[in-house]
Amino acid sequence: MRDVVALTGATGFIGSAIARRLTQEGWRVRALIRSPSLASRLADTSLQWIRGTLEDRNCLESLVDEVDAVIHCAGAVRGITEADFYRTNVEAVSRLAHITAGRSPVPRFLLISSLAAREPELSPYAASKRLGELAVAAVADLPWTALRPPVVYGPEDRAIRPLLRLMLYGIAPILGRQDARFSLLYVEDLAEAVIQWLKGNVREKHAFELDDGYPKGYTWHEVIKTVQQLRGKRVFSFRVPELIMNIIAWLNKMVASMIGYAPMFTPGKVREFRHPDWTCDSIPFSRVSGWTPKVRLEEGLRLTFGLP
Ligand SMILES: NC(=O)c1ccc[n+]([C@@H]2O[C@H](COP(=O)([O-])OP(=O)(O)OC[C@H]3O[C@@H](n4cnc5c(N)ncnc54)[C@H](OP(=O)(O)O)[C@@H]3O)[C@@H](O)[C@H]2O)c1
Repeated sequence: MRDVVALTGATGFIGSAIARRLTQEGWRVRALIRSPSLASRLADTSLQWIRGTLEDRNCLESLVDEVDAVIHCAGAVRGITEADFYRTNVEAVSRLAHITAGRSPVPRFLLISSLAAREPELSPYAASKRLGELAVAAVADLPWTALRPPVVYGPEDRAIRPLLRLMLYGIAPILGRQDARFSLLYVEDLAEAVIQWLKGNVREKHAFELDDGYPKGYTWHEVIKTVQQLRGKRVFSFRVPELIMNIIAWLNKMVASMIGYAPMFTPGKVREFRHPDWTCDSIPFSRVSGWTPKVRLEEGLRLTFGLP
């Protein structure tokens, strides 16, 4: 049995994959949960649940008590206003980082940030992820590292999976520029990066980008070609004009404000989609941790959709 790791976001898409890998590897995992009904998602693991939210200081104190490392994966990925993202992606990050730095000995701290942090001007989400990194870096004496994944996909994803599913049905709306390039990462490879950070005792105070190792990232054309190979049939692709994307995003934002749900597809998300360069380079992280990504898009799609 290895040592104890505190984990936030374990009920989410990425956090649940990290939790599974940690327990498989023999780490004892103490995980934050705000809605106990979601614990069933990880029924096959031996997590110690701490009930509460990132806003509850006492609960965070219990979460990080005598742990060897803290993996902070919880985050707001949907929202309307800057405040929606700021509360979780900045204030809560700062709170947890300060509480962690107050322990003796101080546990290592891993922040799951986002590649979006590289372009904070694009959206409230991107800005909040950058500010979250800065909040961690500002905490004196905290041995922190941040990981900046690009778009992450996998079986339990609810954000990009519907678009990939539509492509597998043969319809591919192109939501960005034709010439855009972007990196992708399969969720299990991200979980493995966390394991390697732990095992490799990485102590660089740095925000590392991660990708699946596909040289220079993908174009929409390459993604569609991969889907066509998997289907064995042609995929009908068409470009969605920016104006149409913006109209849908504004309508979604308005309805969300009226009805009171947290939207994913907003004008900020459109700006993120239309950014020409979301490629990244994971070699610096591989160098310090020994991690290498294993799953490229074709295999990742097979795993995501249970294809032979
Ligand atoms: N998905 C991607 O493509 C991607 C790419 C790059 C970076 N990231 C980053 O990866 C992290 C996880 O993303 P995800 O896609 O797994 O999102 P997700 O499925 O929405 O999961 C978010 C997790 O954070 C928890 N959480 C949010 N606010 C909280 C609060 N105030 N108190 C306690 N827990 C809270 C959620 O708890 P509940 O289950 O109770 O809601 C959930 O466990 C985020 O930090 C995100 O910025 C994601």
